[in-house]
Amino acid sequence: MVPNRGKRSILLLVLFCVNASGAFVGINVGTSISNPPPASDIVAILKEKQIRHVRLFDVDHEMLNALANTGIEVIVGVPNDQLLRVGQSRSEAADWINKNVAAYIPATNITYIAVGNEVLTTIPNAALVLIPALQFLQSALLAANLNSQVKISSPQSIDMIPKFFPPSTATFNSTWNSIMNQYLQFLKNYGSSFMLNAQTYYAYTKGQGIFPLDFALFQALNPNNQVVDPNTNLYYTNMFDSMVDAAYYSMQALNFTGIPVIVTASGWPWFGGSKEPDATVDNALAYNSNLIKHVLNGSGTPSQPTAQINTYIFELFNEDLRPGPISEKNWGIMYPNKTALYTLSFEHPDESDGDSTGLVGVFCVANSSAPAIALKQGLDWACGPGSANCSAIQPGQPCYDSNNIAAVASYAYNDYYHRTQANGGTCNFNNTAMITTTDPSHGLCIFAGRSGSSKGGGISPGSALGPISPTNLASAFQLCWLSYLVTVLLLLLFYY
Ligand SMILES: *[C@@H]1O[C@H](CO)[C@@H](O)[C@H](O)[C@H]1NC(C)=O
Ligand SMILES: *[C@@H]1O[C@H](CO)[C@@H](O)[C@H](O)[C@H]1NC(C)=O
Ligand SMILES: *[C@@H]1O[C@H](CO)[C@@H](O)[C@H](O)[C@H]1NC(C)=O
Ligand SMILES: *[C@@H]1O[C@H](CO)[C@@H](O)[C@H](O)[C@H]1NC(C)=O
Ligand SMILES: *[C@@H]1O[C@H](CO)[C@@H](O)[C@H](O)[C@H]1NC(C)=O
Ligand SMILES: *[C@@H]1O[C@H](CO)[C@@H](O)[C@H](O)[C@H]1NC(C)=O
Ligand SMILES: *[C@@H]1O[C@H](CO)[C@@H](O)[C@H](O)[C@H]1NC(C)=O
Ligand SMILES: *[C@@H]1O[C@H](CO)[C@@H](O)[C@H](O)[C@H]1NC(C)=O
Repeated sequence: MVPNRGKRSILLLVLFCVNASGAFVGINVGTSISNPPPASDIVAILKEKQIRHVRLFDVDHEMLNALANTGIEVIVGVPNDQLLRVGQSRSEAADWINKNVAAYIPATNITYIAVGNEVLTTIPNAALVLIPALQFLQSALLAANLNSQVKISSPQSIDMIPKFFPPSTATFNSTWNSIMNQYLQFLKNYGSSFMLNAQTYYAYTKGQGIFPLDFALFQALNPNNQVVDPNTNLYYTNMFDSMVDAAYYSMQALNFTGIPVIVTASGWPWFGGSKEPDATVDNALAYNSNLIKHVLNGSGTPSQPTAQINTYIFELFNEDLRPGPISEKNWGIMYPNKTALYTLSFEHPDESDGDSTGLVGVFCVANSSAPAIALKQGLDWACGPGSANCSAIQPGQPCYDSNNIAAVASYAYNDYYHRTQANGGTCNFNNTAMITTTDPSHGLCIFAGRSGSSKGGGISPGSALGPISPTNLASAFQLCWLSYLVTVLLLLLFYY
């Protein structure tokens, strides 16, 4: 029995190792663009931004060639208008796999085929070919001996779950129960993942004020803007988590567990028409940068704290040909001519980025005479795109103060300033901040820069926990291999 237990602990260790470093953020590259950049330019952008995962909506052969030998992992798509063809004929499906997948592997690292996009909610007439399409493509993969490298799934809209809050009572639209059962059984059989398009922006705008904007943008500092699931007492600090959990609970309601969720699209438009006031650069930057931080943190969702929520940001380029309201054309983080709309970092903020010791006794605080709304903006920016460590101002933590926005903002401003000033970070925050030598620390609430404090904005070795920063990653792997080796040795001892 002991060797068995040993085996299991190896498995657990390996899982843990993957977990400790593995959560990732990728990006969608859409195709409804009148003047798309050359494929080689797109790949250059991905490399420059260190994006290692990309979702294509089709199988553009130039893109697949440009992605060869880059190591970038690729989701390719069977577009909705080709679904009928592959879902009605085994040989068409085999042809599709040979021309679009087998021909590019292994140079191009295709790991998933997304079959259709939101088929059940956007083209319900095609629902009957969805499952055959999955099955035919899977047989063709098997015939091409690619079934262990490439998985097949089909992205579903969050609209498949008519009521996603509270997550614990969420269920798929029962009209589709029979197809969803077959779809989930397929995912289970082939070790694939549930692909969810979790478009918080739509859920927020359709919610007509039920959910606060803060909750949608991962900025719900005030507990009144966070939401408790009354059945589980789980606390939701953001809408994204509640949608992902709703997908897990909806699968559970059909008796399927253990199927991971991949979020195949989530983002925020940066521009919209006069009736779309929430489509702004500030909101898009806040949403996407907070989402990236949230995913790379690797801490899962309230109901799935150990699951990684790998996510593809929607999207790299504005798509000028997308139909619908103005916002539909403006989800990109850049124009197709590569002019950036805002700067998004896809790397985990490097927490070991130290404080400059020269800054002891200098603090960056909020000007308490500045308008509260400007302070809130500065605070949101510091804790979001600015990557300040805002743990200490969360409810229940020593620097939390629900009645004093200036005090809370001061903590975030100061943390940002101490982390970044050596690299050019300033104490400005739209003229709501100022430098002082008066230490704002009080009680257990210690500000970075206090003399003799270990709170150097991340100097202490204990704070270097970022799972993705290169040095930490390396040491995590060393640790992993070490424990792996030890386990193997122990096992051998037990066996012989
Ligand atoms: C492709 O991606 C998979 C999954 O991350 C990885 O295990 C494999 O090494 C990659 N292959 C290449 C050729 O980069
Ligand atoms: C469920 O799906 C059907 C078919 O598309 C649709 O008519 C119905 O409105 C949906 N129900 C809900 C509650 O969204
Ligand atoms: C799920 O399983 C339980 C227990 O086996 C059973 O009572 C229930 O009817 C099943 N639900 C569905 C939707 O199949
Ligand atoms: C890129 O395109 C946008 C929108 O069409 C335009 O405003 C911008 O000036 C262009 N940038 C360059 C460098 O051409
Ligand atoms: C603080 O803000 C007020 C009002 O905006 C302004 O008059 C004052 O000059 C600011 N103080 C500093 C030190 O920047
Ligand atoms: C953030 O600050 C908290 C205490 O305020 C500390 O425990 C934690 O280690 C810090 N995290 C990082 C990543 O620096
Ligand atoms: C700075 O203030 C201006 C005017 O109040 C506002 O439009 C802008 O969004 C603010 N910028 C930030 C980053 O808060
Ligand atoms: C992840 O988030 C949790 C909860 O907000 C926080 O306590 C933890 O420090 C974060 N970890 C990393 C590595 O950022």
